[in-house]
Amino acid sequence: MRTQSLWEHTLTFFPQFLAVLRERVAPDTTVAVVGASDGKFVLPLATAGYRVVAIERDALAVHGGEVRLPGDAPAHAMGLTDRLKLAELHERVQVIEEDFLAGEPLDVPCDAVWTSCSWHYSANHHRPLAEFVDRMQRLVRPGGVFGAEFMMPVEKRHYVVEHYTSPERLQRHFSGDWGVLLTLRTNEFTEGPHIGQPHDHVHRMGLLLAARSSTPTDRL
Ligand SMILES: C[S@@+](CC[C@H](N)C(=O)[O-])C[C@H]1O[C@@H](n2cnc3c(N)ncnc32)[C@H](O)[C@@H]1O
Repeated sequence: MRTQSLWEHTLTFFPQFLAVLRERVAPDTTVAVVGASDGKFVLPLATAGYRVVAIERDALAVHGGEVRLPGDAPAHAMGLTDRLKLAELHERVQVIEEDFLAGEPLDVPCDAVWTSCSWHYSANHHRPLAEFVDRMQRLVRPGGVFGAEFMMPVEKRHYVVEHYTSPERLQRHFSGDWGVLLTLRTNEFTEGPHIGQPHDHVHRMGLLLAARSSTPTDRL
């Protein structure tokens, strides 16, 4: 049985990330997903043969529970762990239920890292965006891939929060042994209601894909 993620219908550049992954990373290697939620990207990666490290701070996303869907209809949402079991993918996925910014940077070396619209969450605004990016980069082994899609500013309040960023501003974090492979952006577009957003709303999204050279330079 296939279950749907609560985020199933939101726009994504994940196919571009997957294409780069297929070019550069062997199929049975490890991909970390930061802000894994209920597994919209974890399940396809595990199905494609990757081992996955899924990092998520929200207990509801991990374990499931009662949610309010658009229209205020109460519903039971299946969490990441149950969706993995149902799909018989749980043995390929390590779930880390933790705030990615809490404590020391995670020491789980991976071949690629992916995040989708996670760092703009207000829970992350107390730390610079550079720290989130740096912690993601540290997960990636030499020769590996970094992928992030992210919210760009649309409303006035977004422009004063650096976590609503742009491909240009992000690029400055990718020097030394990092090289940017691809950046993309959308224009403003209207997205229909989804979990946490009961009405039509406007987004603008960016993508940055980068590769770490296979001969690392020393990091300070
Ligand atoms: C837009 S949501 C969903 C992600 C993705 N679009 C999907 O379908 O799976 C982003 C997720 O990132 C998680 N997140 C944000 N900041 C985090 C942090 N510091 N540590 C772990 N998870 C985080 C949120 O709890 C949320 O589940």
